[in-house]
Amino acid sequence: MRVVVTGGAGFLGSHLCEALLYRGDTVWCLDDFCTGSPANVTHLLPEPRFRLVSCDVTEPFDVPGPVHAVAHLASPASPPDYHRLPLETLAAGSRGTEYALRLALRHDARFLLASTSESYGDPEVHPQPEEYWGHVNPVGPRSVYDEAKRYAEALTMAYRRSRGANTGIVRIFNTYGPRMRPHDGRVVSTFLRQALTDRPLTIFGDGSQTRSFCYVDDLVRGLTAMLDACAEGPVNLGNPGEFTVRELADLVLAVTGSSSAVEFRPLPVDDPTRRRPVIDRARAELGWAPSVSLEEGLRRMVAWSRARSQGRQVPPVREPVKV
Ligand SMILES: NC(=O)c1ccc[n+]([C@@H]2O[C@H](COP(=O)([O-])OP(=O)(O)OC[C@H]3O[C@@H](n4cnc5c(N)ncnc54)[C@H](O)[C@@H]3O)[C@@H](O)[C@H]2O)c1
Repeated sequence: MRVVVTGGAGFLGSHLCEALLYRGDTVWCLDDFCTGSPANVTHLLPEPRFRLVSCDVTEPFDVPGPVHAVAHLASPASPPDYHRLPLETLAAGSRGTEYALRLALRHDARFLLASTSESYGDPEVHPQPEEYWGHVNPVGPRSVYDEAKRYAEALTMAYRRSRGANTGIVRIFNTYGPRMRPHDGRVVSTFLRQALTDRPLTIFGDGSQTRSFCYVDDLVRGLTAMLDACAEGPVNLGNPGEFTVRELADLVLAVTGSSSAVEFRPLPVDDPTRRRPVIDRARAELGWAPSVSLEEGLRRMVAWSRARSQGRQVPPVREPVKV
């Protein structure tokens, strides 16, 4: 298959590009590098089936030759990023999604939207099934991201219903793994950075809020399964194991062997109190379930972070196959 991955130089996108190359696909990676980096995919550049293109998907764009699938991941995704880039985030979810959908429609390609558990906002239903419509503050500081993704979902369904586009929506829950930026403001990367540098782990609130954490390899298996399927979604992709933020901090301290203290800070506005995906639909429609435990995933990420901070060669997570 020839697959276009928007946001392919980001954390998740780079892993998806790698996995697609690994199984023999040709990949066009489109990115404007506003939150990602070419460094995430430089190891893929020697592969002739890989193309990296600097491209802002909020402007019209095309790709030469046939396209069989479009995976639309381009969007600032971490809270510090979308607070810094509010209008760009809204544009990526709205215009960016529309141009990516048009590309898919022109080429009669499968379209995959990387949506988010933030579509559920601060949920009143727990755990969250796809039927739940969510509880989102449309004017709060997080709304640029949450509402952009909700609009992107609506747009995707409109292209499916009115234009016959072959679309699928996944709602991704917190995912972690190698290539997360240490300062991206997400809880796993922040705790790991703090623990590995013996600084206090900062917990917002009292640490009783819960999250579910999916290892990136599991998530990428879900993305490729959805690309290959004809399911319309939305389909939750996440690990249903639920941990309090305090439990995560303790696990990070245990896995790193760090003696960092734990400090508490005020909870940000509209911070969700509970998060856990119902993944029955992913199991039934994609045959997908995560397999990497939080402890094992943290161990892999710590090994990667240590190798990188010691300046050792960090091997690619997967090796592309030659076809
Ligand atoms: N990582 C998670 O836990 C998670 C959870 C839910 C949803 N998602 C979604 O998955 C996708 C990828 O997230 P990530 O964690 O890899 O974030 P990321 O910031 O690492 O990657 C996003 C990529 O999109 C690129 N991008 C942003 N705007 C663009 C534009 N206008 N044109 C071209 N490229 C653009 C960035 O440069 C970056 O490389 C996002 O759509 C995000 O909303 C991620």
